[in-house]
Amino acid sequence: MELSEAGLSSLLPSFDWRLRVLEEATSTNQLLKQETAAPHGTVLLAKRQTRGRGRLGRLFSSPEGGIYLSVLLCPEGAPESVLHLTAMAAVAVRRAVQDFCGLQLGIKWVNDLVLEGKKLCGILTEAVPRRDGTGLILGIGINCNTDTRKLPLELQQTAGSLSQALGHFVEPNGLTACLLRRLYEMDRGLFSEKALWLREYEAACVTLGKQVRILGAKESYEAFALGIDENGGLIVRKEDGSLEHIFTGEVSVRGLSGYL
Ligand code: BTN
Repeated sequence: MELSEAGLSSLLPSFDWRLRVLEEATSTNQLLKQETAAPHGTVLLAKRQTRGRGRLGRLFSSPEGGIYLSVLLCPEGAPESVLHLTAMAAVAVRRAVQDFCGLQLGIKWVNDLVLEGKKLCGILTEAVPRRDGTGLILGIGINCNTDTRKLPLELQQTAGSLSQALGHFVEPNGLTACLLRRLYEMDRGLFSEKALWLREYEAACVTLGKQVRILGAKESYEAFALGIDENGGLIVRKEDGSLEHIFTGEVSVRGLSGYL
């Protein structure tokens, strides 16, 4: 079965977020940004994207078979108080994939979900100014039934998909419904459950306990990844022994022997 509003509604009968499924979008994050009057909990899904956005200005390859979803959240409080949102969203995706597929994904700091060294999901959170403060657009792209042989060559080494890992088709309405339930749960516990979710993030984080390379706009250095702080930042020990907290948006982190 294809992803559809009817398919999702039948699985989420009393869900109070608004869902829309598009055949194609440039970028669901971009489209949702333009909907300046949309309420909290507006969800836009697309079966494919022509200009999917990734972190650090990159494109996110979004062929048919993937799940591409953006949700508008307007949490109370200043944007600085929800820096941990992307980390919690990674836990929500992880829980949903465990619920529906029985697979335990790892999290590569900050926003990639991985399995056996391959990226299966990326998350991009973007702030959007609103009349009543700042909204956050949480964009999630999952390689669900993606045939990774059809991805650009440079991604084929590092990208995987759920269907390839499981060896069978993954029903997209079922997985998306699980994800929306987990995102809803995340939204409700955004502040009250933060510590619990971040502990789960830390336990699943494959970046920790490794020597990594921090690639910033101005500098690049090696460090040892120690832990996750209360904002979802990565705590690293530099070669001079000092500790540093790295925040999303600034850098990418690479293992010394490749993507992980
Ligand atoms: C990354 O891995 O760098 C983040 C990728 C985020 C992709 C999702 S797909 C749905 C939403 N719309 C976009 O254009 N990007 C996000």
